[in-house]
Amino acid sequence: MTRMEWTNSRYLTLPVTRNEQLVPVVLAVTSLPLLEPIGFLHPEEHTTLTGEALQHYLSGRLAAKLAASHFTQVPAAEICIRTGVFGQPLLYCPGHSNIQVSIAHSGSHAIAVVFPEGHPMGVDIEDTRNARLLSPLTPAEATLAADPLLLWTAREALSKVLKTGLTIDLELLAVAAVSFESGFLIVTFAHFPQYKAISWMAGPMACSLVLPLRSEIDLAVLKTLTYPVS
Ligand SMILES: CC(C)(COP(=O)(O)OP(=O)(O)OC[C@H]1O[C@@H](n2cnc3c(N)ncnc32)[C@H](O)[C@@H]1OP(=O)(O)O)[C@@H](O)C(=O)NCCC(=O)NCCS
Repeated sequence: MTRMEWTNSRYLTLPVTRNEQLVPVVLAVTSLPLLEPIGFLHPEEHTTLTGEALQHYLSGRLAAKLAASHFTQVPAAEICIRTGVFGQPLLYCPGHSNIQVSIAHSGSHAIAVVFPEGHPMGVDIEDTRNARLLSPLTPAEATLAADPLLLWTAREALSKVLKTGLTIDLELLAVAAVSFESGFLIVTFAHFPQYKAISWMAGPMACSLVLPLRSEIDLAVLKTLTYPVS
């Protein structure tokens, strides 16, 4: 992979540990106003989308390829991301199995995380400039001292881990509690206590990464990723 052509993009091997074992995870962000593919698409990924939908698709694929290519050392154009029956991304990478990707895009900004199938994760981003008024899902949520948009991204990232998206009763995604650590919001869920979200603001973007509750991330390293989407 030629890293130089991915200007304004950044990937990061995230130090995630579980039971003192390192879990391989790569997170990538991009903020390129892409109007046409620049060589990173697999032949199967070429699309007839146009306009804003194309921009979203290309941004998301770029972030996903950046993360997947760094994870596997396979060139971006040889990696194929197909779409499952629920819209979920399916990662195909020659010589690798049991790895997955989660993708989110908003305008020219995108984020993606590549992780082992055995350690489910999900991402979401939302642009605060396009945000609508968001109400708490439950009376308990109304008491939480947290930005409603950050909570929204945490829920949406969880919905991607579950592969349902927002097609379920949204109360199932309700937040149980929040705490603050090193500038990040740590979110736990009322009905999915096995997961947590790490949420943060990067410039105008609200971002969340969901991972298993008892896995640990080095937040100082995660913080270095905030620059490209600010
Ligand atoms: C998943 C969902 C929450 C994404 O929210 P969004 O604000 O539209 O878009 P985001 O930028 O946050 O995320 C988009 C990415 O989510 C991923 N995604 C879509 N559906 C998903 C699912 N069921 N599970 C996990 N990830 C999913 C895709 O990778 C998508 O990007 P891509 O289409 O370019 O590959 C939303 O689309 C949803 O609720 N979908 C429900 C399932 C659905 O309606 N599917 C339609 C096809 S059957």
